[in-house]
Amino acid sequence: MATIPLKIEDKEVSLPVITGSEGEKAIDIRSLRQDTGYITYDDGYGNTGSCLSNITYIDGEAGILRYRGYPIEQLAEQSSFVEVIYLIIYGELPTAAQRARFSGLLTEHAPLREGLIRFIQGFPRDSHPMALLSSSFNALGAYYPHLVANTLNVDKPQFDEAAAIAISKVRTIAAHSYRVAHGLKLNYPNPDLGYCENFLHLMFSQPYRDYVAKPEVAAAVNLFLLLHADHEQNCSTSTVRMVASSGANLFASVSSGVNALWGPLHGGANMAVIEMLKHIHADHDDGTRFIQAAKTGQGHRLMGFGHRVYKNFDPRAQIIKKSFYKALTSLGIKDDPLLNIAMKLEEIALNDDYFISRKLYPNVDFYSGLIMRAIGIPVDMYTVMFAIGRMPGWVAHWHEVATTPKLKIHRPRQIYTGPAKRDFVPMASRG
Ligand code: CMC
Repeated sequence: MATIPLKIEDKEVSLPVITGSEGEKAIDIRSLRQDTGYITYDDGYGNTGSCLSNITYIDGEAGILRYRGYPIEQLAEQSSFVEVIYLIIYGELPTAAQRARFSGLLTEHAPLREGLIRFIQGFPRDSHPMALLSSSFNALGAYYPHLVANTLNVDKPQFDEAAAIAISKVRTIAAHSYRVAHGLKLNYPNPDLGYCENFLHLMFSQPYRDYVAKPEVAAAVNLFLLLHADHEQNCSTSTVRMVASSGANLFASVSSGVNALWGPLHGGANMAVIEMLKHIHADHDDGTRFIQAAKTGQGHRLMGFGHRVYKNFDPRAQIIKKSFYKALTSLGIKDDPLLNIAMKLEEIALNDDYFISRKLYPNVDFYSGLIMRAIGIPVDMYTVMFAIGRMPGWVAHWHEVATTPKLKIHRPRQIYTGPAKRDFVPMASRG
C-alpha cells in the first residue's frame, strides 16, 4: 500500500494513501492524532474526504458529474427522474419489473395521513414552505413508528417502504405547502399520473378544472429534478450523513438536510437569483451597476455564479441552459425583463476579469431559477423544488451510513481559539 511520510517535530509517520475508483487520491489521517497529537485544520472541509461513498462522482476541474458511474449528460438525455431515483438509491438502473414495482410503491405512498394534512393546514399562511417541509418530514416519523425504531439495523422491506414514503411524500408535502400558503384547497394525488405530472396536478389543479401539464413543462420539471438528484458531499447531504451517524431515522435525518438546503448559499440560491434580478430591475439597472458592486466583495454576491467544487463549468448548468432555451421557445416567452437582465449579467460576468480569474461561472441555480419562473412555479417554492430533486441523494446517503459496518458517530475536532484558563469573577467585581 502506498504511504506518504510526514515529519512532525522529531517524529516521522507514514500515512496510507487511499485511491478512489476514478484514481483520486487521499491521505488517510485517521491515526494522525493518536500517533502525533496533531489534528488537521480545514475550515469548510474543502480538502477533507469525510467518508467513502459509491453513489456520485464529481471532478470539479473537468466538470464531470456521474451518478453510480453514469454520466449526467446521458442520464439527462435518455433517462427520467424516477429511473434516476432508483439508480441512486439502489445502485443500478431498474429492469422493467423493478421500475413497475417501484412506481407502484410511489403511487401507494403519495397521499398523506389525515393527521399530517391537519398539521400542515395548521401552519400560518405566510410560513416559508421550507419550514413546513422540514417540520412535516420530521413529523412523518410519528406516523410510521415501525420505520423509526432500530434504524442501524434497517432491513430491506423496511428500507424500501421508508424510501418510497420519502420520495413520494416530499412531492405531496411540497405541493400542499404551496396551497396552504395561497389559501387553496389541497388536491389529492392522482394515481394515473407520472411523478412530475402528479406534482404539477397537486400544485395547480383547481376544484373546477384539472391542471393538465404541457409535455414541455413536465419535461422541464423532470430535467430539473434529475439534475439535482445527488451531488456527493454538499452541505445538506453531509448534514443528512452527520445526523444519520448518530443512528437517527431517515425522516429525522432528511428533515435536517432540508434545513441545511434552505440557506441562500446552498439551495436558496435559485430563489436568490430571481430576487436579485427583481432588485436589479426595480433599481432601473441593466446589471452593470450590480456587477460592479458584487466585485467589491462587500455586501451582495452575484447569485447563481461560482461553485465550491466546479471550478471551470457546472455540467448541470450546461444541460439546463440548453433545455431552458427550448422551454422558452415552446412556452412562447420572449420579452421578460428579468430574463433580459439575466442574459446581460451572464454576458458581462463571463467576460469580466474578476469572475474569470476567480473561476466564477453560472451554476445550475442561475438557469434553474429562470426555468422555474418560466413554467410558473412561485419563487418561494424553488428551494422546495430543489429538495424534491435532492431526496434520492439524501435517502441513498442515509442508507449508506445506516448500513456501514462498525459505523462511527461523526465527531469532528476543533482548534480552540477562545480565552485561556481564567478564574471566575464574582458579580460584584465585574465591569
Ligand atoms: N459573486 C461575487 N464574488 C464571488 C462569488 C459571487 N457569486 N462567489 C465567490 N466570489 C468571490 C469571493 O468574494 C472570493 O473573492 P476574493 O478571493 O477576492 O476574496 C472568491 O470569489 C472565492 O470565494 P469563496 O467564497 O472562497 O468561494 P467558495 O468556493 O467558498 O464559494 C459559493 C462557493 C457557491 C458559496 C460562492 O461562489 C457563492 O456564494 N455563490 C453565490 C451563491 C450561489 O449561487 N450558490 C449556489 C451554489 S450551486 C448549488 C449547490 O450545489 O448548492
